[in-house]
Amino acid sequence: MSKIIVAGGKKLEGEIRIPGAKNTVLPILAATLISGKKSVIHDCPLISDVKLTLEILRQLGCEVAIEGNSITVDSSGFDCTILTEEWMHKMRSSIILTGAILSRCGRVRTSYPGGCELGLRPIDLHIKAFKDMGVRVEEQFGYIDCIMEHPKPCDIHLGFPSVGATENIMLAAVGIKGTTRIINAAKEPEIEDLQVFLNAIGAKVRGAGTSVIEIQGVGSFRDAEHTVIPDRIVAATYMAAAAITASTVEVANVNTEHISSIIAALREMGVKICRTRRNSLVVSGNARLQPLNILRTTPYPGFPTDAQSVFTTLLSVADGTSILIESIFDQRFKHIDELIKMGADITVDGRTAVIKGVERLYGAKVNAPDLRSGAALVIAGLRADGLTTVDEISHIERGYEDIVRDLSSLGAEIKRID
Ligand code: EPZ
Repeated sequence: MSKIIVAGGKKLEGEIRIPGAKNTVLPILAATLISGKKSVIHDCPLISDVKLTLEILRQLGCEVAIEGNSITVDSSGFDCTILTEEWMHKMRSSIILTGAILSRCGRVRTSYPGGCELGLRPIDLHIKAFKDMGVRVEEQFGYIDCIMEHPKPCDIHLGFPSVGATENIMLAAVGIKGTTRIINAAKEPEIEDLQVFLNAIGAKVRGAGTSVIEIQGVGSFRDAEHTVIPDRIVAATYMAAAAITASTVEVANVNTEHISSIIAALREMGVKICRTRRNSLVVSGNARLQPLNILRTTPYPGFPTDAQSVFTTLLSVADGTSILIESIFDQRFKHIDELIKMGADITVDGRTAVIKGVERLYGAKVNAPDLRSGAALVIAGLRADGLTTVDEISHIERGYEDIVRDLSSLGAEIKRID
């Protein structure tokens, strides 16, 4: 099992470029299935979740080529008949592909996302929306068969602005003649980027970024080229690295609007952040970060749940007590037990963490319980006295192309042990 070893106390310096966003690339790769044409997507992070999705696209008969961080998908060879019982056993739960395959083939088998580190990952909002759109949904033996029997354009009211459900509805609606509207849609930047890509392949989508998205079904598509927006969570991670080591680092290729809540929270903690060139920020941390009275995760444009664990790390060494409320997922505090092993003083009650800042953290052997928690523990290791070993780093590789390469390039003393 590979691990990362970090030596704490080193100052960072220099510049880091932020890669394209994982949570944009995944739905866009799903969308390439719809057109039956060639799509070229630039600035894709070559992370394990992307590689896994590309493998599935190949298995579906698509031609996939990777050149640097540009991915070309030609889905003309996607043969719907391949979706045999046996095959769909294998694909199982790439729920984000469901809407796109429904659009292209009119039927798909999926299953409930497996046990996930973030607690229950229901898909009831996806299923309810599909039924509203005229999809027959049959659940049997743990599988969910979806057949687009009587496609009908309609208004879909989401009970919660779910990112995945919003994306799945957009993807399924592209193939339904007429106008489908999503009311109470998620407004994350990744949704807007998906709209840009869908319109590039010939769809007619508008309203992404607001709570009402309108999709006009179309029957023909075209080749497209698209550059993915920067990853706002990777940006938050590396800005936190500068903050916690009291270093000055330039972060390039950021969309400051997408990270406005991150910038506001860091500034409130006493971190200096200023714009240099377009899409670049200089971040200067300080030895004693200020606590935050209350930090609550909410849907965009609020503070992102994916940055919650890294901010728990920052607040664990702040000069006072902070309250952190995780309102999106029900099990997203698994990094806290590990931070306590490093000397943090945090108590959890349900979805609320009371974080009493401490002067020092101590290097320890810790486990990465999930993607963002793993990153938070690496950032904690940059500050801790001595060596921190982070185990089970395959979680981290789902969302960071090479966190060791990136932090080393800023002067961190960090290495990967296979
Ligand atoms: C997306 O997950 C992201 N993943 C997550 O990032 C991110 O944390 C999340 O959005 C929120 O921003 C990708 O884009 C691949 P949701 P998703 O549907 O779509 C409940 C990371 O670290 N819900 O907005 O699964 C759900 O249980 C990952 O990069 C239902 O109840 O998020 C959760 O409590 C982690 N029923 C809340 O909504 C449903 O049918 C938010 O889920 C769907 C969701």
